[in-house]
Amino acid sequence: MCGIVAYKGDKDASKVIRDGLKTLEYRGYDSWGIATTDDSVIDVIKNIGKVSETYDSNLKISNNGSNKGIGHTRWATHGGVTKENAHPHLSQNGKIAVVHNGIIENFQEQRTFLKKQNFSFLSDTDTETIPNTIEYHMGRGYDFVEAAKRSFEHMDGQYAVVALNHDGKIVAIRREAPLVLGIGLNNEIFIASDVTAFLEHTKNVIFLEENDMVIVDGSFEIFNLYENCVVERPISRIDWDNEAAKKGDFDHFFMKEILEQADVINRIANIEQSIITDTVFDIKAAKGVYIVACGTAAYACMSGLYLFSKLAKMHINFCVASEFEHFKHFLTEDSLIIAISQSGETADTLSAIRAAKSKGSKVISITNMVGSSIMRESDKSILQKAGPEICVLSTKSYTSQLAIIALIVYEMDGHFDEGIASLRELSRYIYYLTSKNSRDFIKSLSEKLKDVEHIYLLGRNLQYPTALEAALKIKEVSYIHAEAYAGGELKHGNIALISEGTPCIIFTSDQTEKAILSNAMEVKARGAFVIGLGPKDNEIFDFFIKVRDAGDLNPIVQIIPMQILAYQLALLRNCDPDKPRNLAKSVTVK
Ligand code: F6R
Repeated sequence: MCGIVAYKGDKDASKVIRDGLKTLEYRGYDSWGIATTDDSVIDVIKNIGKVSETYDSNLKISNNGSNKGIGHTRWATHGGVTKENAHPHLSQNGKIAVVHNGIIENFQEQRTFLKKQNFSFLSDTDTETIPNTIEYHMGRGYDFVEAAKRSFEHMDGQYAVVALNHDGKIVAIRREAPLVLGIGLNNEIFIASDVTAFLEHTKNVIFLEENDMVIVDGSFEIFNLYENCVVERPISRIDWDNEAAKKGDFDHFFMKEILEQADVINRIANIEQSIITDTVFDIKAAKGVYIVACGTAAYACMSGLYLFSKLAKMHINFCVASEFEHFKHFLTEDSLIIAISQSGETADTLSAIRAAKSKGSKVISITNMVGSSIMRESDKSILQKAGPEICVLSTKSYTSQLAIIALIVYEMDGHFDEGIASLRELSRYIYYLTSKNSRDFIKSLSEKLKDVEHIYLLGRNLQYPTALEAALKIKEVSYIHAEAYAGGELKHGNIALISEGTPCIIFTSDQTEKAILSNAMEVKARGAFVIGLGPKDNEIFDFFIKVRDAGDLNPIVQIIPMQILAYQLALLRNCDPDKPRNLAKSVTVK
């Protein structure tokens, strides 16, 4: 949460940083700010709202022609959404500016101490203690870099911080929050929360390790605070196309990423079999397999449970990552944890991994972000290859997770090649499902649903996690209350919510048709407006979305019309499809 960009080079820093922040808005977008320096005076511009709504003319107010600066797009944790609380924060003497992502756990202690030293504070944030602590140490004779080191040594919590000194020096630290270094041409240096912020300038990246402190002064150096020495870190090359992180001709990333799913599934169909075989070997060797994730990724895990049971004839345990540590007592050195995370930075998933590690268990992750914390803390990783997902809502990363889980299970069942063939076939079908005709058809449904207060969704078997994910998509972007149940659960209480006209979406499949249609009849008998989604129409349905039966891969195809529905509902209700209220994509706080 919160996006950080810092730049030192030969370009206009405020514009490079502003453009970088735009791509990081998925991390938070309640306010933003940029600080630059002309090697003498720091100039700060801050505002409430989205940086993408800022014009060059606004930037000029702050731009002192500088080519060094730091910037931030915020998702509020400490302190409300105000201009005062927006980053960068200045030290009391105005000579140090700081941007920060994460939480400083002992900030109150530090604030009390600094107040006693006659420092005053303008914001309610934990961040403002950082520049003032650096100023405090500089007041005791240390230079900027040494003062920053001393400050970081006494800061508890999980955070990434970048500090800019008025003379143009920059220091940054990574401590359990993402921060990467981009190395451009002509000694250009970028520091950011993720690579998309500078992909259009460079694909050469250094993934910082914990407690790495970057010092930028002319060139750069990395000093590790634990090892207490200068360290060398390898430069990796990112193979993402820089256009992939741009909206192109699309109005929103949401729709662009929905449409990319056909290619993503095809890419997964080209995965090296050995990657999957290797994972299957670990699964078979383990005594107890646990699959953990949050939100949408957790629903991908739930689908996995059904597939493991049916195809691999194996029970695996599922837990939402935020609850996992309460189950760690069962873990042993022979347990295997499969952690799934698009961003690779989700704090809850990371702490599940750490809980597993503390018991000596093995961890395999499935993630979209090369070099991410989750990837680095896992014993092995499978890359999702979904490309950058910028919209806050997961779409292509979800279907790519489903496809990878399915391949693991097919391999366990000895049917890897058939799995690959099915994914290829599905990829062609997804082109059809996302075509303009299909989208227009779903639009006609969204017009019927745009003013409703509640939508209920029912599914059985693999269609149950799909219903859960569809409900999440609808509520997080259109703010319509949507709730999903396993078909059989309806009569155990939830049916009380159904009345005349209540929209109910029924996910059907060849396998579950009979049982789910009886649930459809139960809601129909109470006056529900019944929407069917699946292979066969039925007279009970008031509206029907035909999606061919893809058997064990149904979750991949059935979610697509629901993603489109959520998008259309957002548009009709004037909601921002890419940046829903209160949400951030990379949830790096617990
Ligand atoms: C919903 C959504 C979230 C994420 C969840 C986990 O559209 O995007 O529910 O799926 O926050 O994120 P990752 O996969 O990055 O760990």
